[in-house]
Amino acid sequence: MTHQVRAVVARGKGAPVSLETINVPDPGPGEALVKIEACGVCHTDLHYREGGINDEFPFLLGHEAAGVVESVGEDVTDVAPGDFVILNWRAVCGNCRACQRGRPWYCFSTHNAKQKMTLADGTELSPALGIGAFAEKTLVAAGQCTKVDRAASAAAAGLLGCGVMAGIGAAINTGNVGRGDSVAVIGCGGVGAAAVVGSNLAGAAKIIAVDIDDLKLNTAEKLGATHTVNAKGTDPVEAIRELTGGFGADVVIEAVGRPETYKQAFYARDLAGTVVLVGVPTPEMKLELPLLDVFGRGGALKSSWYGDCLPSRDFPMLIDLYLQGRLDLDAFVTETIALDDIEKAFERMHGGDVLRSVVVL
Ligand SMILES: NC(=O)c1ccc[n+]([C@@H]2O[C@H](COP(=O)([O-])OP(=O)(O)OC[C@H]3O[C@@H](n4cnc5c(N)ncnc54)[C@H](O)[C@@H]3O)[C@@H](O)[C@H]2O)c1
Ligand SMILES: [Zn+2]
Ligand SMILES: [Zn+2]
Repeated sequence: MTHQVRAVVARGKGAPVSLETINVPDPGPGEALVKIEACGVCHTDLHYREGGINDEFPFLLGHEAAGVVESVGEDVTDVAPGDFVILNWRAVCGNCRACQRGRPWYCFSTHNAKQKMTLADGTELSPALGIGAFAEKTLVAAGQCTKVDRAASAAAAGLLGCGVMAGIGAAINTGNVGRGDSVAVIGCGGVGAAAVVGSNLAGAAKIIAVDIDDLKLNTAEKLGATHTVNAKGTDPVEAIRELTGGFGADVVIEAVGRPETYKQAFYARDLAGTVVLVGVPTPEMKLELPLLDVFGRGGALKSSWYGDCLPSRDFPMLIDLYLQGRLDLDAFVTETIALDDIEKAFERMHGGDVLRSVVVL
């Protein structure tokens, strides 16, 4: 059986998205059909629409989602119809070199659904990050479904599926932020604000939020930033050094994805500090740094894919913290919108006080 559902499709580079009826097949072996309850709008969806990720149009956008498993393929045993799940884009394979070495958060052979969802005319869709959840239903690999406590709100829970997990994980997993550390976060959209929250959870003593938008800085402060710097009028490198006794921060998290902000991160950290790049650059971007500075400053230059998370370990744990009132995921849900409001949400991303617009179905 094929399910006809409404979904948001990006048909060509830079073209506005369209709401279309698509065909979603019943789950085959290893697959699950998920009824989407909520899906956040992430900057990466816009990157897809702009052709900044690859050229495999048409894309089925949306990938920060929570919903309920409607049906599963015959051999699927780890999730069942009725389960409340967060969708992930790291369904670890168990067989690749990373998995075999006990580092599944680096798995490079993650699973997606084998069958294709299609446009009404049969054209195959490329689901964003192998998910495609701006849709009433989507087809994923069963391993992309991580079961969590049904008591969580779908709008808040879904955000762990990408941006909020990427930010929290950039701090906790990749940056290894610990008690007493100083942290600077450059770019405080959904991902950067989550890095502030992650640093706070990890016990950082100083958390410096940097953005060019005062509204974002206000939110970062509410979420635990101890200091804010508006990089429009102030040199953020100098400001971060000044706030850290002239040293620079132990960990600097770059959550914009641009060479100039990466350079700021590089120079705003203390000797032997860590830079974490979680912002996603576009293919034409280049970075030039004096090699002697790379050598002389020591430390670690890391990048963080999905916050180096392991969904089966991190999602249920973070949902538990949320339900205990120790992790304010609701603060990331700035507004709830309908499926046909994605373009407006993209516009609102460029400034203003939106951390996440979340489609609620
Ligand atoms: N690595 C991952 O796994 C992963 C996951 C999700 C998103 N991302 C990426 O993270 C980045 C941020 O995503 P988001 O959803 O938070 O986007 P966003 O648009 O909500 O946030 C970007 C923030 O950066 C700020 N900014 C822009 N230019 C700046 C500058 N020069 N200095 C300081 N701040 C500046 C903006 O004001 C905004 O607040 C994107 O590149 C996105 O693709 C990465
Ligand atoms: Zn693997
Ligand atoms: Zn995302």
